[in-house]
Amino acid sequence: MKLKLAVLPGDGIGPEIVDQAMKSVKAIAEKFNHELEYEFALTGATAIDQVGDPYPETTHDICMKADAVLFGAIGDPKFDNNPKATVRPEQGLLAMRKKLGLYANIRPVETFESLLHKSPLRRELVEGANFVAIRELTGGIYFGDKGRSDNGNTAYDHCVYTREEVERILKLAYEFAGKRNKKLTVVDKANVLESSRLWREVAQEMAPNYPDIKTEYMFVDNAAMQIIQWPKNFDVMVTENMFGDILTDEASVITGSLGLLPSASMGIHTSVFEPIHGSYPQAAGKNIANPIATILSAAMMFEYAFDLMEEGKLIREAVDASMAEGVVTTDIAEGKAFSTSEVGDWIADYIAKK
Ligand code: IPM
Ligand code: MN
Repeated sequence: MKLKLAVLPGDGIGPEIVDQAMKSVKAIAEKFNHELEYEFALTGATAIDQVGDPYPETTHDICMKADAVLFGAIGDPKFDNNPKATVRPEQGLLAMRKKLGLYANIRPVETFESLLHKSPLRRELVEGANFVAIRELTGGIYFGDKGRSDNGNTAYDHCVYTREEVERILKLAYEFAGKRNKKLTVVDKANVLESSRLWREVAQEMAPNYPDIKTEYMFVDNAAMQIIQWPKNFDVMVTENMFGDILTDEASVITGSLGLLPSASMGIHTSVFEPIHGSYPQAAGKNIANPIATILSAAMMFEYAFDLMEEGKLIREAVDASMAEGVVTTDIAEGKAFSTSEVGDWIADYIAKK
């Protein structure tokens, strides 16, 4: 099969971890006889520095022409500490989501046996937890009208959703639930927000079309609590943009393995696969960052963008093997720590030799 990728390393540790994931991608292409073609493109602070735009038109063109995008991370402290900066790396991410129509962000929350002791939760609460959080990614308050009053002392951000936006993300969430344990939790704040009432109304209309799936409704404040109290009760969770931003960060740490979790953003055009951790600027260039979340994002890419399940499975197997062998970076090492590139080489090598 022909695999045409756009590769966007971005900022901070992005380039190092994307390099490692590409080693596995190449090993898989070789092993399964896929014709791999890829092009690198600029994004984030790196793109601002070089061309003045965090998601340049040339990058968008490369993404549009690709079958999948492998993304590293964006963000740079020099922008975080400057509230007056008019161009920011994050705008590149938002622009990419909007222009590629990436309305669904999918974050699987999985536990790794060897890392359970790193979870902030007691082992018995989190062991075996396995759910998928689906966040609406191109609507709501992050994209609504925003502004200030003339004197600057009043500010607003509008949270807007259309029926179509709600329907398409719920449809995708129901499809995920149908392939999993057939439970969908719709998270909203319908006791207060009108936009949430629209979400719930649409969900209640759609639920009877999925009779084998149990639809559950939960207010976001309650959901924040349930994620840490009973994480095993969730199967698929779906929610609007800002609630999803917050809840998925919360969900990602309960497994004790923030550095290990991948994500997919899907929608109208090319899907994007990226680790959920950020650009970790303190570690940039030091060859110490954990590449596993990006390597697992590549596994998701094979599975979701190309429907190549065996390929994804082999990457997962190689990652599990590296952890079982203790070939891991300093963040999760018990004894000797390996460098980013050593872990990347080991995993690609495992794939090649399999
Ligand atoms: C994420 C990030 C982004 C978001 C930022 C960087 C704009 O936190 O992907 O969750 O809030 O959507
Ligand atoms: Mn976030």
